[in-house]
Amino acid sequence: MSLIRVIAGTIGVLVLQVAHAGGDSARGKTLFETCAFCHSIEDGRNGIGPSLWQAAGRRAAGVASYPYSAAFKALDQDWDDAHLDGFLAAPMQVVPGTKMTFVGVAEAQDRADLIAYLRSLQP
Ligand code: HEC
Repeated sequence: MSLIRVIAGTIGVLVLQVAHAGGDSARGKTLFETCAFCHSIEDGRNGIGPSLWQAAGRRAAGVASYPYSAAFKALDQDWDDAHLDGFLAAPMQVVPGTKMTFVGVAEAQDRADLIAYLRSLQP
């Protein structure tokens, strides 16, 4: 492996780490006030939307006690960072027919912070 490739590889790892560390969960908690009108973070407590306790990382439409839309029930995916980021940017475009009548979070940094906050909701 050439030195240039080693350096490029190292930079790649650094960029990845920065991107991951880019989510500030404390800021995300404040941003979540927009979501809290519809979402509780308490396990099993659904509101207009499902409880988001441990939503990050789990199956989409995974709260058994919540009546999801048909569009949501048809989703065959996990809420990994990429899916959360896409959905939160434009919920009604990304999942046409969703009951989440919310315009979305325009700023990438805001979405990263929200995702970091959702990820922090673990026992
Ligand atoms: C106007 C109410 C409303 C607001 C505001 C809202 N949501 Fe939702 N959300 C919903 C509803 C309703 C669903 C269920 C969608 C369906 O069944 O189509 C949902 C679903 C979700 C899901 C998928 C959960 C699962 O179990 O698969 C996530 C994640 C989510 N919302 C995150 C957020 C975040 C983060 C915010 C704030 C930036 C937010 N929502 C704002 C109503 C809302």
